[in-house]
Amino acid sequence: MGGIVVSTRELPEPSLSTLSLDFDLRVLGYAPSELELAAEVVEADALISLVSDPVTATVLRSGTKLKIVAQYAVGVDNIDRAVAAQRGILVTHTPNVLTDATADLTLALLLALTRRVIEGDQMVRSGRFAGWAPELLLGTELKGKVLGIAGPGRIGRAVARRAKAFGMQVIAFGRSPRDDGDPDDPTRVSFDELLHRADVISIHLPLNDETRHLFGAETLAKMKPGSLLINTARGAIVDETALIRALDSGPVAGAGLDVFEFEPAITPGLLDENRVVLMPHAGSATVETRREMARMVVEDVRRVLSGEKPLRPAPPLSSRGPT
Ligand code: DGY
Repeated sequence: MGGIVVSTRELPEPSLSTLSLDFDLRVLGYAPSELELAAEVVEADALISLVSDPVTATVLRSGTKLKIVAQYAVGVDNIDRAVAAQRGILVTHTPNVLTDATADLTLALLLALTRRVIEGDQMVRSGRFAGWAPELLLGTELKGKVLGIAGPGRIGRAVARRAKAFGMQVIAFGRSPRDDGDPDDPTRVSFDELLHRADVISIHLPLNDETRHLFGAETLAKMKPGSLLINTARGAIVDETALIRALDSGPVAGAGLDVFEFEPAITPGLLDENRVVLMPHAGSATVETRREMARMVVEDVRRVLSGEKPLRPAPPLSSRGPT
């Protein structure tokens, strides 16, 4: 073995540091710009990247020795995979391990919205809680409501399982056919039916040319009056300016967002909306999940640099649209 491994950030230990036993491990420890990253990978055999790193054509062409980009995430939309494929650079990711953590956060956002958790917290902290009252902070129940999953892949189905436990009826729009052997796999409907019927829509799609702004002015206008939108997938699937309009003048009554169109910048109108709950892209942020993600990327870097096949190649470029 041997070679240079660049990791743009420290990762939860113990895995990353073990690479320094066999490789020249260079941890940048900052969020590199495209040109900075291009300079950092000039000599690298492997790059460990985050969703926020611009692994563009320029970066991949600059890394003339690169054999693998091991993404510390399941989504790989920040990587120019066409150029990686042309250059024979393998792209790996961390599927499965973050499914439950992301599904949990989806339900957390949904419950925070329907039970007004943020408003309640603010009321208590600011001294405005004047005692129990019959109509104080009334929310809505999940039981009996229709949840529409946009993208019933691994995470979408994990959300469906949880929602069923809360008594919700679940429908889904996606390319993959329903698995009849999985009782939790929701019934498939058209995109229009999902928009019209769902009390809550939860997005679990990859970001690509087909899904960018899938939730824009026209589609948001078709959502059921008073419905909620949850996004724990990728920010740019939603046109945030159109979402702010749909919150202000209907039909959308609230949104739970863990991801943002211009991340880490937040479209200003969202910050003024008290009908949204915002989280800083933390879907996979549990100690257990992040540690396991680190173990996975290290394992695939080791495998590829010692001439073996990676265990978790990112899906081929052809699998693009809704899952
Ligand atoms: C992912 O894995 O794609 C998340 O967005 C970050 O964990």
